[in-house]
Amino acid sequence: MSVDVGRSRLIPPGPGRGAALRMLLVMNSDRLGMMTDAARRYGDAAKLPVGPKTLYFFNHPEHAKHVLADNAANYHKGIGLVHARRALGDGLLTSEGELWRKQRRVIQPAFQSRRIAEQADVVAAEGARLVARLREHTGKGPVDVVAAMTGLTLGVLGRTLLAAELDRFPAIGDDFAAVQDQAMFELASLSAVPQWIPLPRQVRFRRARRRLQTIVDRLVDERTEIKDRDDVLSRLIVSARAEADPRVGRQRLRDEMVTLLLAGHETTASTLSWSLSLIDRHPEVRERLRDEARSVLGDRLPTYADLTRLKYTAMVVDEAVRLYPPVWLLPRKALAGDEIGGYAVPAGADVLICPFTLHRHPAFWSRPEEFDPERFDPDAPNNRPRYAYIPFGAGPRFCVGNHLGLMEAVFVIAMLSRELTLTSVPGRPAVPEPMLSLRIRGGLPMTVHAAA
Ligand code: HEM
Repeated sequence: MSVDVGRSRLIPPGPGRGAALRMLLVMNSDRLGMMTDAARRYGDAAKLPVGPKTLYFFNHPEHAKHVLADNAANYHKGIGLVHARRALGDGLLTSEGELWRKQRRVIQPAFQSRRIAEQADVVAAEGARLVARLREHTGKGPVDVVAAMTGLTLGVLGRTLLAAELDRFPAIGDDFAAVQDQAMFELASLSAVPQWIPLPRQVRFRRARRRLQTIVDRLVDERTEIKDRDDVLSRLIVSARAEADPRVGRQRLRDEMVTLLLAGHETTASTLSWSLSLIDRHPEVRERLRDEARSVLGDRLPTYADLTRLKYTAMVVDEAVRLYPPVWLLPRKALAGDEIGGYAVPAGADVLICPFTLHRHPAFWSRPEEFDPERFDPDAPNNRPRYAYIPFGAGPRFCVGNHLGLMEAVFVIAMLSRELTLTSVPGRPAVPEPMLSLRIRGGLPMTVHAAA
């Protein structure tokens, strides 16, 4: 049998097939440990047998550049996202080819910097509401910061992208959690379990997906005036109406909205939660953040022009997503055989690029495990390769919401820092849980104090 590979015959190092079952168990129990260990043991390229699959793991900036950008046409979204598609449908995150190109053309303009500048006031107002809610907990019992940030980021997405108040739908956060759980289950079970089997999680998922679709349908029905609106929802409605089959149009619209809300809110909430956890562990960083926020903002709400002035705050957020990239894994499937870093990759191979390990690669980061915002000082030279840091991905599938997500994180950290201090609860450290995004296992209870 001939194997369709690039010119090279070199096979990446890795454990033999005999390790497949053990690796499958490790993948289910400790995914970050598995990737970290593989990078340490085998270097920048590894071939990992995991259950019935073979994963090609590449961990060098040049490899990331090749797979995500230079030869992106040869790669589709891979393991995990393919399975998540059964839960998410064909939204921008999971679609491919002509459909993806068309969706990206429809959505991208709603994220241009001119529009992001217009959205700054909404982000600031939602941030102020969050600070007011947290202020009420000063001197009382701990608050779950992950839940608070999830509420914030959903609120911002509703208002910025859809001009809608999503807190009218109080169960929406739980519904998204049920969809995520199902997507993760699809990954772990490699979609081997039919969705009609009434497992409690699948029943919860179906109910949640129905409710989310009903919410989308309501938002669409409420949007009677399209002409002068240029937000995502209006653009999607116009695009759905152009579809020859109205049922296909409506389903696309639902998939797209659920995808956008999901992709946008968990990632930004994770960025904020990890930032707060790291700030809590570094009092000197907390003080600098507070001083910067007070001197740049005084008592007023942030505006778009403040984004470049909140320089240290942005450095802290950049460093937080280095250590804890919300999208910790970028899985791809090779369409044709390829050669990556001199190694042969067969057609159909599952290829993994892992921001979590790349961001801690000792060849490109000094003291990689240490939290040090100074690495991102825009005025200090650094000779890091560009693709050593890819929290928003790279190439054509680069995140559409990166400006919005970063602005939200910087504004909210600044507004919190000038007024409140959040401290963790003894015995409740933040433990990473790598699901579709890098969550904090069991949430993050923190106690609220007035800032010094
Ligand atoms: C700090 C927050 C965020 C982070 C770290 C993040 C990260 C990422 C990454 C790494 C990708 C690439 C995935 C891949 O190549 O497989 C991505 C794609 C995407 N992100 Fe974000 N994201 C964030 C915020 C947002 C926001 C606010 C939105 C929008 C509402 C959003 C919507 C999307 C969408 C729709 C895609 C798919 C793009 C495509 O495939 O064409 N993200 N994001």
